[in-house]
Amino acid sequence: MNNRIPEELIEKIRTQVDIVDIIGEYVQLKKQGRNYFGLCPFHGENTPSFSVAPDKQIYHCFGCGAGGNVISFLMNIEGLSFTDSVKQLSLKTNVDISSYVSGVQTNEASHVSSDKDDMVKAHQLLKKFYHHLLVNTKEGEEALQYLLNRGFSKSMIDEFEIGFALPSRDMVVKFLSGHGFSLEKMYEAGLITKREAADVYFDRFRNRIMFPIHDAHGSPVAFSGRIFGDGEPKYLNSPETKLFNKRKIIYNFHNARLAIRQKEHAVLMEGFVDVISSVSIGVTEAVATMGTSLTDEQAKAIRRTTEQVIICYDGDQAGLEATVRAAQTLQSVGCTVRVATLPEGFDPDDYIRKYGGEKFVDHVIGAHETYMSFMLRFLKRRKNLQDEGDRIAYIEEVIQEISKLTSELEHNVYIQQLAKDVKLSEDILERQLKQVLSRRDSKSKQEKKAPTNRPLAYVSRGKLFPKHLTAERFLLAHMMRNADIADRVKEQIGGAFSNEYHKAIVTYLYSYYETGHEADISSILQHIKDDNIRNVASEIAMMSINEEPSQQELSDYMKQVHIHHKMEVIKEKEDEKRIAERESNYVRAAEIAMEIIKLKQLLKG
Ligand code: GTP
Ligand code: MN
Repeated sequence: MNNRIPEELIEKIRTQVDIVDIIGEYVQLKKQGRNYFGLCPFHGENTPSFSVAPDKQIYHCFGCGAGGNVISFLMNIEGLSFTDSVKQLSLKTNVDISSYVSGVQTNEASHVSSDKDDMVKAHQLLKKFYHHLLVNTKEGEEALQYLLNRGFSKSMIDEFEIGFALPSRDMVVKFLSGHGFSLEKMYEAGLITKREAADVYFDRFRNRIMFPIHDAHGSPVAFSGRIFGDGEPKYLNSPETKLFNKRKIIYNFHNARLAIRQKEHAVLMEGFVDVISSVSIGVTEAVATMGTSLTDEQAKAIRRTTEQVIICYDGDQAGLEATVRAAQTLQSVGCTVRVATLPEGFDPDDYIRKYGGEKFVDHVIGAHETYMSFMLRFLKRRKNLQDEGDRIAYIEEVIQEISKLTSELEHNVYIQQLAKDVKLSEDILERQLKQVLSRRDSKSKQEKKAPTNRPLAYVSRGKLFPKHLTAERFLLAHMMRNADIADRVKEQIGGAFSNEYHKAIVTYLYSYYETGHEADISSILQHIKDDNIRNVASEIAMMSINEEPSQQELSDYMKQVHIHHKMEVIKEKEDEKRIAERESNYVRAAEIAMEIIKLKQLLKG
């Protein structure tokens, strides 16, 4: 693949946008001194530790460590690739990369993206056409009446751009080809079907109420068509295409994202009609999956926006079971789950229609419970606690659940609750819990034997670094802002940094300057592809430092870094020497001893 956008163009785009404007679309920012502060969109928090530096055009969260420039911000917040982020930013500038990204070279990747653009355009046009048919034509009257009878208002129909597909064989085929779209491409986009082996195309959706489905950027990528008379299936979705992947799409996510951030939670539903109803009564943070269980990918996308999720699924057996599954998926990506339960036989839309929005907000969403308290009820269901077998099964299941909680406080709370519930002493239940925990512990220890590749923790907030690490941090901060300083450090101490992250950053810096780049913090961060390393780098970049450091200051830092590094080398040598002695390899031990003496002399000199 060779469709890389040239670096000069990326630079141009990056310098024409202001990171404060872009991030401001997602986070409410307040100016404080030189920087802006707000609530971090990457983790839930109540006091702002997310800061944006307009002078350096970078951001950093002192709470969760996330950091980078405007491009990495878009990548992380929208889940975009690097190229797509640049593309999206370019739309806000006068830099045109469309010809570059989709034209000129005939490579595969560029075809794919222009294909996709066409497919989205077709969805956009068709969505408007369907909507027009529903609200303005005689043919759409019956469908419109169905919706109004069901409690859809005119404004909901407009807001969600609901439409109607005529009971015609080729209305859409004609419409799309009339607009110059290739029918083969429209077939690939899932908008029409074709008779096998012949190039005869037909409309896919006929005589259905059409709900457009948008991706995370708000582009229409699919439809779901509901039958409004008898017939099967109730909902017909677009097939999986280059644009539409059911496992990734979250209905209404694009619209709800801001509300989710502001309200600091998302409400997850099963049906998109439920979402439409909910939004119409003010639950604007509602989203839904597309008729499948919540996937890992969807859960992660939600987690990037909020930590708290309220699940509000149908009040039937299937809904309860799906709640448990979705809760576990959400918890596995770090979300805190609450459950809002509906009376048996209701889905959110039914409930709102029958009891009204206020009741829904107060008695359903507002009455959400913790996952654990939901789970206790769920496990108890259909069990007769008077029956010995049921009782034991119940206790074991609940203890399993409790053992998954990480805080001791929670353990105690729920053991107490369970003790009351089953009329057993807390002691016995606690012992049972300890057994489960220790069994799991020894299992996970066995699994942990292999060395893990987990990144080192690098937390600086409220922490005092040892002197040499502080010196490394100051040096790096200066090196990021001044190529000459970087040169000098390279000459004098090279890569002799002690901390693994610092070592990685300094390596990036040397190669960055060597390839002819100028000092530019945002651009430096862009070159660091590893998230963990970039986060540390952004934190260091945020340090306030003396803009014009004296020679003395710099050489003091270098000295500290250098000495510490040498001392570590000496320590390693001493270990080596001890091993040689233990193995009775006295010749080798003597050699090492000489080296150590030399190193120590160097240190003094
Ligand atoms: P209404 O009956 O119109 O109120 O819809 P609902 O949201 O109550 O539907 P239901 O609870 O039956 O289904 C929830 C979700 O599952 C829907 O929003 C669809 O995404 C999906 N779904 C339901 N029925 C079908 C179907 O027949 N085919 C497909 N592909 N998906 C369906
Ligand atoms: Mn329903």
